[in-house]
Amino acid sequence: MTMTSLPNFPCYLNGEYTPLSEAKISVMDRGFIFGDGLYEVLPVYGGRLFRFADHMARLERTLKEMRIANPLSREAYEAIARKLLAAQAAYINADITTLHQLVYIQITRGVAMRDHAMPEGITPTVFVMANTVKIPTEAQRANGVACVSADDFRWEKAHIKATSLLGAVFSRQISFDAGAVETVMYRNGFLSEASSSNVWLVKDGAVVGVPKDNLVLEGIRFGLIEELCKATGIPFSLRPITRDEVLAADELLLSSATKEVLPITTLDGVPVGSAIGKGRPGPIYAKLYAAYQDAIRRTAA
Ligand code: PDD
Repeated sequence: MTMTSLPNFPCYLNGEYTPLSEAKISVMDRGFIFGDGLYEVLPVYGGRLFRFADHMARLERTLKEMRIANPLSREAYEAIARKLLAAQAAYINADITTLHQLVYIQITRGVAMRDHAMPEGITPTVFVMANTVKIPTEAQRANGVACVSADDFRWEKAHIKATSLLGAVFSRQISFDAGAVETVMYRNGFLSEASSSNVWLVKDGAVVGVPKDNLVLEGIRFGLIEELCKATGIPFSLRPITRDEVLAADELLLSSATKEVLPITTLDGVPVGSAIGKGRPGPIYAKLYAAYQDAIRRTAA
């Protein structure tokens, strides 16, 4: 008898498809022992993958950065994802601009006796599941969300999409405890990102993001927001952003696979924005969200 309440839908683990509640890895897996693994979260709309090639490119980059040989081809990841998605048939061909599912891919360095140094010649563990997702509510879309801020106490290789996420767990819990949706983080007085989303500032009609460096994870939506700004004529730039600039922003936005693009309307309990529309989702958000939905309609496949 199983003691868990995990769902029984199939997942992929090291070449086999098994019910999620029965999938097991070794206690000596380096993902378990060291958090020595990496992941991707891909959004799926009506059974269609969105920005699949971008997620694969980042997966390949992360593997390289972590010195793990890619165990599978892009085609193999896609075939696994589509097979798992097909097992949740209710969503196939459902409304294309509603986020229904996520494909979660995790790869660890593999199983070995405990030694901090990277062992050679071991086989990476590959786990893939497709699960349903909690999306922002209609009220959150209409009103924006509350966030709080904190110092960014995570490590200094935040650009690696690694599963060593204890820093992110602590960071997210700060907002959870405050009844807010995300924790916006600063390093030495400069904006970095939120616990599992990138953060964007809008000032005088222009979108500003932080530089793509080792202190932030380059979201797949990082490139997408730049594209959408270009397509809709919104000035876009990346540069260091001070805490004072965040506090004086006209709009603040979050982006991630699960939040898509979502307005922050209060930060640490203070309404975001200038006098007109203070504490309300702003016009640049509305424009970007419409363009985001249009991009899904055109390119999710
Ligand atoms: N998080 N920054 C961090 C630290 C993240 O964990 C994420 C994604 C992002 C946005 O990246 P993307 O646009 O590729 O989703 C930025 C995923 C959704 C997660 O951990 O569940």
